[in-house]
Amino acid sequence: MSYEINDAEFKRFSGLIYDIAGITLTDAKKVLLTGRLSKRLIALGLDNYTQYFKYVTNAANSEELQFMVDLLTTNETYFFRESQHFDFLKQIVPSSVKQGQVFRVWSAASSNGAEAYTISMILADKMGTEGAWEVFGTDISNSVLELARRGHYRMAEADKIPREYLNKYCLKGMGPQEGTFIIDRKLRQHVNFQQMNLNAPAIKVLGEFDVIFLRNVLIYFDIPTKQHVVSNLVPCLKNGGYFIVGHSESLNGITDALTLEKPTVYRRR
Ligand SMILES: C[S@@+](CC[C@H](N)C(=O)[O-])C[C@H]1O[C@@H](n2cnc3c(N)ncnc32)[C@H](O)[C@@H]1O
Repeated sequence: MSYEINDAEFKRFSGLIYDIAGITLTDAKKVLLTGRLSKRLIALGLDNYTQYFKYVTNAANSEELQFMVDLLTTNETYFFRESQHFDFLKQIVPSSVKQGQVFRVWSAASSNGAEAYTISMILADKMGTEGAWEVFGTDISNSVLELARRGHYRMAEADKIPREYLNKYCLKGMGPQEGTFIIDRKLRQHVNFQQMNLNAPAIKVLGEFDVIFLRNVLIYFDIPTKQHVVSNLVPCLKNGGYFIVGHSESLNGITDALTLEKPTVYRRR
């Protein structure tokens, strides 16, 4: 069964996801929205999007609202995506830090954890699996965070992981787990995931970071949202720390608090 959405209904849903997550859905995204939400109408036995909007905005159904947010976010990611950023990370990670200090990196729109675990491979390689480092991954979507916490992926997703890292930091699934791999515990013990909406009025402070990755999420935001999200994150960056955005993204006109180090890499001074 397919459900049509009219213009007024689409406007209500796009307004809702904008208000919550800051995500802009243009009219061109109508098919994407109905493609992703129609299964919820079926599951809930609803006849149209007006009924679903009422349901999802009823305070008693906050779980459904989270479900909707999960469905309307685009979570594409992969290990070693935009690999120049990891080459850069390799250059700036120290081999050790002073006693009592910890080198901290935040994957601020982490999706299923591929970015956070890629970072962890670089840190483990430079600082050792027993080194003083940690990685935080946050995302607005609970479903991707569940995958991230498991750290268990299909073998096909390993194709960009350098063989040396695959051998050192990933375990091949056997028997019923054939065709999959899991990130080694030695790395997972340094990596934590938490749900966080970067568009919230103020975000929960997770301490200060040496590097923040905010990649391939600004593209979904309009300028005021980009400004708001970046202003939420900048106070969490150490002085001298690096802020990295996706290759098709830029902070030009978004913040004065960061200076361009090289394309897509900014620094707080
Ligand atoms: C395309 S993925 C990018 C993943 C990874 N950073 C990368 O570059 O491969 C974008 C992620 O941003 C998340 N996202 C979207 N809006 C968000 C918000 N307001 N707060 C936190 N995460 C958000 C989505 O759930 C999605 O997992």
